[in-house]
Amino acid sequence: MYTLLKKCRACGSRTLTPVFNVGVQPLANDFRSDSDPHSGFYPLNVLFCEECSLAQLSVIVDPSVMYSNYHYLTSNSKTMEAHFHVLANDLKSRAGRVGSVLEIGSNDGTLLRFLNGKNFSPIMGVEPATNLSRVALNSGIPTTPEFFNLKTATALRAMDGEYDFIIARHVFCHIPDWMDCVEAISQLCHDDTLVYIEAPYARSTLKGLEFDQIYHEHMSFMSLRPMNRILNRFNLYIQDVVEYGIHGGTIGLFVGRKPPVAGFTDSITAKDWLAFSDTIRSSVIPSMVSLVYDLTKEGKTICGYGASAKSTVWINSCGWTDKSIKFVTDTTPSKWDKMIPGTSIPVVDPGALMRELPSYAILFSWNYAKEIIEKEKLFRESGGKFIIPHTCEII
Ligand code: TYD
Repeated sequence: MYTLLKKCRACGSRTLTPVFNVGVQPLANDFRSDSDPHSGFYPLNVLFCEECSLAQLSVIVDPSVMYSNYHYLTSNSKTMEAHFHVLANDLKSRAGRVGSVLEIGSNDGTLLRFLNGKNFSPIMGVEPATNLSRVALNSGIPTTPEFFNLKTATALRAMDGEYDFIIARHVFCHIPDWMDCVEAISQLCHDDTLVYIEAPYARSTLKGLEFDQIYHEHMSFMSLRPMNRILNRFNLYIQDVVEYGIHGGTIGLFVGRKPPVAGFTDSITAKDWLAFSDTIRSSVIPSMVSLVYDLTKEGKTICGYGASAKSTVWINSCGWTDKSIKFVTDTTPSKWDKMIPGTSIPVVDPGALMRELPSYAILFSWNYAKEIIEKEKLFRESGGKFIIPHTCEII
């Protein structure tokens, strides 16, 4: 069901130091109904490569297990729509044109549809989760229902040739074999292809104490030094870097064949990860455990808002049960009437917030805080309060 990481996936070094250990955890998106057997629990440890500084999980859970029951949908939130506008402009202005696009991990086709509307054409997606590729295909988005690898790239190249744009948003952290993936990307690039890679930035994860970004799907924690190592090996170079505010701090890498004038790099150390680990264990988790315990003792009711993968990490790390967290609301219908993985806390529709009117809602989708707090005005006007988990801030 899982294999152990033996060497760094960016540089091949075997000098890997343990820096963060969360014990044994369920798969963060394994939402199941009561009667449905779940996919089990797996070790969750972060190892740091002393050679190139890539932080990565110690285990690789078999992708067929991890993605067989997958409920993650590209969000159609206002926050993401705004990001897609910025991204389309950034791609167009850097390349000086529109053109053909391949999206790796194209989910239900939301971004490709958006880019097509901005005159990027033709479009092609690659998406291994069959439930998602089916949705994309049914809505007219050309999609290859496969994992992206050298074999898929060879077939795409034979069919479409090279692409003007290759987009990999939030997929690098999900891909176990970076050598194969970057070689596959390189096969599909011509001299002017613009490759766009987006992922949560390890520096933001550390700074924002976002330990809830660490779960089995996120096998690597993106930073620039290791990305240079792997990209340069295949004659690809980071040409520009942009930091976006989405998902708690995301980095966007614009990559191409031309070696850059300025080097883009960073230096994250094992010490940074160990300090993060210390703060999470000694302060972040205990503070939230105490807050929920105290509120429950006072007779307050508490729910969760957003059955994100992050909610699974928080709830399991804090050891909460349905005695303290009554339910978690989410906009994704396929998650409703299922349980937060590893618990018997039910996921319910967003209307439950006003129907049940709990005293507090822990904002597990804190990355959409502004938009959600605005949308849920009535909850706060009716006496409800939101809790931002990392800071215990009550709003
Ligand atoms: P997302 O932050 O993309 O996260 P993760 O990678 O941690 O799963 O997911 C956000 C979840 O929150 C998703 O299941 C949809 C849900 N959600 C709401 O319930 N209400 C909202 O207003 C928004 C924006 C998201």
